[in-house]
Amino acid sequence: MDKIVIEGGTPLEGTVKMSGAKNAVLPVLAATLLTRGRNVIEGVPNVRDVTTMIKLLEDLGARVESYSNEKIILDTSKADNPEAPYDLVSTMRASCLVLGPLLARLGKARVSLPGGCAIGARPIDLHIKGLEAMGAKISLDQGYVHGKADRLKGIQFFFDTVSVTGTANLMMAAVLAEGETILENVAKEPEVVFLADILNRAGAKISGHGTDIITIQGTTSLNPIDCTIFPDRIETGTFMIAAAITQGDVTIENCMPQHVEPVTLKLQEAQVDIELGENKIRVKGKGPMESVNARTHPYPGFPTDIQAQFMALMTLAQGQSIIMETVFENRFMHVAELKRMGADISLDGHTAIINGVKGLSGAPLMATDLRASASLVIAALAAKGQSIISRVYHIDRGYVDIEKKLLNLGAQIRRVK
Ligand code: UD1
Repeated sequence: MDKIVIEGGTPLEGTVKMSGAKNAVLPVLAATLLTRGRNVIEGVPNVRDVTTMIKLLEDLGARVESYSNEKIILDTSKADNPEAPYDLVSTMRASCLVLGPLLARLGKARVSLPGGCAIGARPIDLHIKGLEAMGAKISLDQGYVHGKADRLKGIQFFFDTVSVTGTANLMMAAVLAEGETILENVAKEPEVVFLADILNRAGAKISGHGTDIITIQGTTSLNPIDCTIFPDRIETGTFMIAAAITQGDVTIENCMPQHVEPVTLKLQEAQVDIELGENKIRVKGKGPMESVNARTHPYPGFPTDIQAQFMALMTLAQGQSIIMETVFENRFMHVAELKRMGADISLDGHTAIINGVKGLSGAPLMATDLRASASLVIAALAAKGQSIISRVYHIDRGYVDIEKKLLNLGAQIRRVK
């Protein structure tokens, strides 16, 4: 299994280009199941979750006509197998995004339940409740969700909890349903808004995306999808923090500054210098950072997917910072590893209390989930001495060539097989 070896202490300097957003391309790939034809998607990030989703679509009968240079042509004319098997779904929770499209397309679906994961139970009860309300008969058997439906019907549905993939799943199902669907308390993440825009370009009638209420007028068919994925805001935030923690000077290109505003504001509060351009952000360390509190929240709040990386940064800030995780119940797996590097962190339920220390020291570290791994890389870049991070398959799920991008910025980093 691969490991990443980092000698910390070098300020990052130079320019780095962001890749397409993983969380945007996954629902768009699932949405190709709503079409019958040649879908063209550009700006596809080459990460393992994307490879998994493509494999899943191939399993369902889609044909990859070509896939190179971040461009995939996917023919869904014959994607008529309703079964998403355990071995693929279990490696990636976002596989449940095919449930709504399969029911809308085939009137049946057999999708393995994603199961627990490192950052909490993460149920899909709201996805199921919504699809049942749309007329699907759903049962659970041998770890699989079985769904059957004649044509799905439009509904009015309120999400008890704001759910990103839940919103995407029901929106996709509603696009081919009969009549009007009103989804309330929906996710406003840029990835959800993008999906709605792309579906509209393919012939769907969705309005209200980007607000708390999405309305969908059902239609009978969609044209194939043709789109370019926008840059990854979580990758952008991760590189901003990596630049800040090493007291570096990094220009992040091909990014969308408006999508990372909550991260920008927190970094500025911590006394990191930030210059915003149209599609770029320059991040410069300017001496000791100040402690800042943060509370995760659905978009446009501070992203839970940046919480671990921001905590790594706060371990080296002056004073005490309090970070609250409100989206997931168990997303502090990185804390134990950061403490092994000398961080002073204590946990009280959903709250982490971080007292800044003068320095971190390199250590053997274990990646536990995707964003926790990124926080360990960030901490290791600033730590004195060598860190060896194992289980880096977690990081490969969501970051394109992270060690190459960091190497180009001057980091002393290598991957060992
Ligand atoms: C998506 C993102 C993930 C991000 C998360 C929160 C993708 C592929 N993944 O995950 O990177 O960390 O949003 O921003 O886009 N919940 C329920 N019942 C449900 C669905 C969700 O209780 O049916 C709960 C979850 O357990 C969690 C909260 O709602 O506590 C938010 O989860 P959700 O927004 O659904 O996360 P994902 O869509 O899985």
